[in-house]
Amino acid sequence: MSHDESTPQGPDLSAGVAENALADGEMLAGHVGDDAVVLARSGDAFFAVGATCTHYGGPLADGIVVGETIRCPWHHACFSLRTGEALRAPALVPLACWTTERRDGKVCVRAKEERAAVRRAPSGTKMPERIVIVGGGAAGFAAAEMLRRNDYDGSITMLSSDAAPPVDRPNLSKDYLAGTAPEEWIPLRDDTFYAERDIDLRLERTIAAIDPRAREVVTADGSRIGYDRLLLATGAEPVRLPLPGMDLPHVHTLRTLADSRAIIAQAANTRVAVVMGASFIGLEVAASLRARDIEVHVVAPDKRPMEKVLGPQLGDFVRDLHETHGVIFHLENTASAIERDRVLLPSGATLAADLVVVGVGVRPRIALAQDAGLTIDRGVAVNEYLETSARDVFAAGDIARWPDPHTGTSIRVEHWVVAERQGQTAALNMLGAHERFEAVPFFWSQHYDMPINYVGHAEGWDDIAIDGDIAKRDCTLRYRRGGRALAVASIGRDRESLLAELAMERDIAHG
Ligand SMILES: Cc1cc2nc3c(=O)[nH]c(=O)nc-3n(C[C@H](O)[C@H](O)[C@H](O)COP(=O)(O)OP(=O)(O)OC[C@H]3O[C@@H](n4cnc5c(N)ncnc54)[C@H](O)[C@@H]3O)c2cc1C
Ligand code: FES
Repeated sequence: MSHDESTPQGPDLSAGVAENALADGEMLAGHVGDDAVVLARSGDAFFAVGATCTHYGGPLADGIVVGETIRCPWHHACFSLRTGEALRAPALVPLACWTTERRDGKVCVRAKEERAAVRRAPSGTKMPERIVIVGGGAAGFAAAEMLRRNDYDGSITMLSSDAAPPVDRPNLSKDYLAGTAPEEWIPLRDDTFYAERDIDLRLERTIAAIDPRAREVVTADGSRIGYDRLLLATGAEPVRLPLPGMDLPHVHTLRTLADSRAIIAQAANTRVAVVMGASFIGLEVAASLRARDIEVHVVAPDKRPMEKVLGPQLGDFVRDLHETHGVIFHLENTASAIERDRVLLPSGATLAADLVVVGVGVRPRIALAQDAGLTIDRGVAVNEYLETSARDVFAAGDIARWPDPHTGTSIRVEHWVVAERQGQTAALNMLGAHERFEAVPFFWSQHYDMPINYVGHAEGWDDIAIDGDIAKRDCTLRYRRGGRALAVASIGRDRESLLAELAMERDIAHG
């Protein structure tokens, strides 16, 4: 993954390109001066925008054009070609735009210019005066950003029990933990962002209760904060195992920046680590600790890593990949106790461990909603507009269970991009936009230099149709039920992943 600006390559787009060189939906990467620019055609119109995704620097020319939007191949951000606006997370910063000029069958890219985003919230309706957001994570941050982007000028109070401002949480188990991401990549924005946009971010402020009748939230120290609209985005917390030794100082879970820092500090004095859990976070932690030259043992009850989500074929492949990097698996196994320098297995065997990381899943933080009498259904139940059962109270992110139009069922997922996109939709709906949340779920996971992309949602399937070669890291796996692909996982096929997402969106649009 790279945050670098790409070095401009390809033709000088200011010198002009033959119009018929680009068909509808095609793109050409080039440059204008020192700027990397992509020229895209949508129907009969040509657009020129920055060639590098503002999320992690993905090469947009390797993505796809859909109508007047361009989509990033890496994590599916979507930008407006007309205004550069980051329409869909995970990118939140717009692309630069250039004017284009057509003459004598050629299109030339001219001046760079800033363009205003098109306001999506309705005008003319009475705006709420006070919006309160409980949660300073993916959904909460994306909501606050979207409110101000849409010229909302009432008060925004964002309350987070975390000591750190909103951070790039997925990085905490990947490059940051491996020691390859600098500190400045981690906050989603620096402090000036909140001050400049008049977002009242209050850290280490835990909300203890909601009073929907009085339209107030109550902090742990008893003070009350009134709202006209409330967004609950309290996320999830790591499951702790009921094991002797779980509270020892070298035993960690991973959710916050403080957790990641504590693991890094412990890693400095660690020769051998035990990771409990062989799903996404556990294995990303294993990979990051291997990057620090620590001997890593993974203990998990599963037969194969990640099998429940990705199936046996990818599970076996992921296992091989980690073994090639020196990870030692103890599958179909659990721990019976943790001691100061070792982990005990039920068989009586022991594993030496200077560091233990427990990554065995998370539990949505729904207590606030539950205590306030909101409808709960294995999460906080919301409708297609992300409204909870309480008037003017919305929920988004890991806690929300919403009616997913693609599967036709209510689902709750724990994905970064979904949380951000829900935060964005909830923000617009708090301003009266009445937009359905219909985004196809997407997540990515990174192991060493290998990302896996996944679109859709499949809790079970009849079969998995594999195209390509998993071992060569060039494959697409379709998880099908009744002949229909519920989800698509891919390695090395970013464009196919985008096209699969688009096909699912079109399915939804056509009922
Ligand atoms: C290490 C790690 C790596 C991950 N990697 C990936 C990945 O690669 N791809 C992917 O798709 N997903 C990944 N995820 C999952 C992703 O980060 C979550 O799905 C996402 O953060 C959920 O966003 P959220 O806003 O619902 O919750 P969070 O981001 O967890 O934010 C919740 C916020 O609510 C606050 N809060 C909770 N209770 C209260 C309260 N009572 N009062 C005040 N504040 C409160 C918390 O302090 C926090 O600020 C990863 C998660 C972790 C931990
Ligand atoms: S790099 Fe473009 S979405 Fe992540």
